Amino acid sequence: MPALTRRNLLKASAVAAAYGTGIGLAGRFGAAEAAADPFLLKTAKIKANLMEAGATRDVLTYGHEGMPPVIRMKKGEPFAARLVNGIDDPTTVHWHGLRIPNRMDGVPFLTQPYVYKGDHFDYAFAPPDAGTFWYHPHCNTLEQMGHGLTGVIVVENPKDPAFDAEIVLNLRDWRLGGDGQFIEQFRPRDAAKAGTYGTVRTTNWKQQPQYDAPAGGLLRLRIAITDVTRIHTFKLEGADAQVIAIDGNPVPARFALDVLTLGPGQRLELAVRIPDSEGATVTLSDVRGTTPKVLSTFRAVGASLKRALGDLGPLEANPVAKADLGAAEHIPLTLSATAENAPPSGSICGTLGYSFWAINKVPWGGDQPDPMAPLAELKLGRSYVIDMENLTPHLHPIHLHGMSFTVLSSSTRTVAPLVSDTYLIEPNEKVQLALVADNPGDWVLHCHIIEHQKTGMTSYLRVT
Ligand code: C2O
Ligand code: CU
Repeated sequence: MPALTRRNLLKASAVAAAYGTGIGLAGRFGAAEAAADPFLLKTAKIKANLMEAGATRDVLTYGHEGMPPVIRMKKGEPFAARLVNGIDDPTTVHWHGLRIPNRMDGVPFLTQPYVYKGDHFDYAFAPPDAGTFWYHPHCNTLEQMGHGLTGVIVVENPKDPAFDAEIVLNLRDWRLGGDGQFIEQFRPRDAAKAGTYGTVRTTNWKQQPQYDAPAGGLLRLRIAITDVTRIHTFKLEGADAQVIAIDGNPVPARFALDVLTLGPGQRLELAVRIPDSEGATVTLSDVRGTTPKVLSTFRAVGASLKRALGDLGPLEANPVAKADLGAAEHIPLTLSATAENAPPSGSICGTLGYSFWAINKVPWGGDQPDPMAPLAELKLGRSYVIDMENLTPHLHPIHLHGMSFTVLSSSTRTVAPLVSDTYLIEPNEKVQLALVADNPGDWVLHCHIIEHQKTGMTSYLRVT
């Protein structure tokens, strides 16, 4: 069928465009599929063109140039990566949202030693869930993520419905001055509020990039907010779109995208029906705050493929165990500011030098060889409900490692039973999150506004 050939060609070019790179990728992604040949993640300090003012120095990435690669894995199949540290600071890799063994989770002291310059660490696991995830360091996180170390992961499922194109968007800011060089990564007075915002916003390390997409085709848009601070309210104009997955899990029922607010660490997957007429554009914006901001645009190319959103079959649910609510034990979790301004103790993984926040009144003591007691000890295989309450006037994207939860109810809004690893809790909201403690180990739980994480809003659950 000629139409199919054309679709496949477009798909290949859209995917290549989304990766922002050219030749040579096939080999690298091919290598990632074979567990015997690990995907190399070597941290490096590079120059990058993020602003017109000229190249920014001291940008960090994995590889030699440009943004960290989109890593492709296959659901249930072995994946291996070797982290080689080429920068002066110790580092680790955390695979955000992947439910993998604890020793692969990348959290210094709790799950692995940090990796010094010149050293390496081998990660190997089989991702149980398909969807959009991401990876980043869990050591000196504000500095390392702020300078570039945030990449997207796509876990493919051969049973996924067929789209005509796929584009991956890595959304993040940079704290740059007018000369294009880094300015201070945070201001303490902002860390004690909503966090310190970047000055330059990028999509795949470019400002408002445009991508081609097949006219009349179905585009799978995978969006990851990898910024350290910014909450986004997405709006898409110029095309019909449906939300198909949030945080790596299919939504229980697809819905049309009106506006949707997600926080740092969260992911959104959209099915976008590209307009029929060649040259028509579709605009993705963040409309949170006073000035809406265009994140990227998509241009229809070619003759219309005449597809319909209704053509798309469902995404297969991930194999996340359902909690037994009748038997579940409740874990109270309160987010608050802390008056106790004892700075966390110094750590090789970096401290910001302040405590502003607490979980159950205890501010995290910093990444240490002898961490504080867990928030709760969970029995392997048992069901739990986390009763989380936000006593602060700010939103917090609270992320749990290693296990996915299901959103049960909220005191302030109607919630769908989403399966997720991150919940964006509003001021004065109380929410119930159910989970089965089916992954043994010490699992960090923290706010993904990294300044909050690093100034007290961190704890962990122990599953034995
Ligand atoms: Cu995105 Cu503790 O992680
Ligand atoms: Cu927070």
